[in-house]
Amino acid sequence: MFWTSAKMMIASRAALAPALEDRVPEDRYAELRSELVRRLSRPPYFFVHHDPNLVSDPEETKALLAPLAPEQRLSFTRVQIDQEAAARESKGTRYSRTNQPLAFHTDSAHARRPHSLVAFAMVRPDRNGGGLSSVVCANDVVARLSAATRNALRQRCHDFGRGPMRVLWGQQAAPSIRYYRTQLQECALRKNEGIVKHGPALEELDQVLAELVEQTSFALDAGDILFVNNQKALHARGGFASNSDRLMLRYRLRVREIE
Ligand SMILES: [Fe+2]
Repeated sequence: MFWTSAKMMIASRAALAPALEDRVPEDRYAELRSELVRRLSRPPYFFVHHDPNLVSDPEETKALLAPLAPEQRLSFTRVQIDQEAAARESKGTRYSRTNQPLAFHTDSAHARRPHSLVAFAMVRPDRNGGGLSSVVCANDVVARLSAATRNALRQRCHDFGRGPMRVLWGQQAAPSIRYYRTQLQECALRKNEGIVKHGPALEELDQVLAELVEQTSFALDAGDILFVNNQKALHARGGFASNSDRLMLRYRLRVREIE
């Protein structure tokens, strides 16, 4: 009796095996995902990976990124010229819908917990070589600032639209940063303050960022995906022609492991 049921159990497991394999697909992105966490956890806090299949299929990119924070919503945007969306959105963020250059900034600077991972997948670069990307590590920026400015940026008084925040926080040796100058200005105007707090400190920061933009710029080719730790590095973009068909896909996620 025992022998018979044991044999039946083995037989039924054998029958189940292929079905189980079907339901648990191989995680083909496990290696890239661990490389991503490793490289975004240390300077320079960004890297470019080339994979045309990944870049051309948003579902593949989502399959790579979503497991990094399964409880979080993955934000996805097609970044291309879109006059209607530009007219609809706030002045602070609409520039990504236009052909205009974007100065160094971090994404979701207004959020209490800004996205830590931002990925830019280049589907179609600008055919005239415009829209160059730049990335700079917060460490390299802060090293060029005066002590007074560093101190001012660590004050919790910079309002990007959702109450006072610090521009710089965390360890001196590896500071975290949030910064979007146009959001600060727009917020100050809305509150009738006219001028942003610590204006001279922000001017010094802008000056340093403007000096760094050309030294840190590079072109993304079709099939490239740029991963940035958005709490440790700032990114910028050059302008391009108003009739450009440049298309980039942007993904944003809050990943505890790299914060
Ligand atoms: Fe951005």
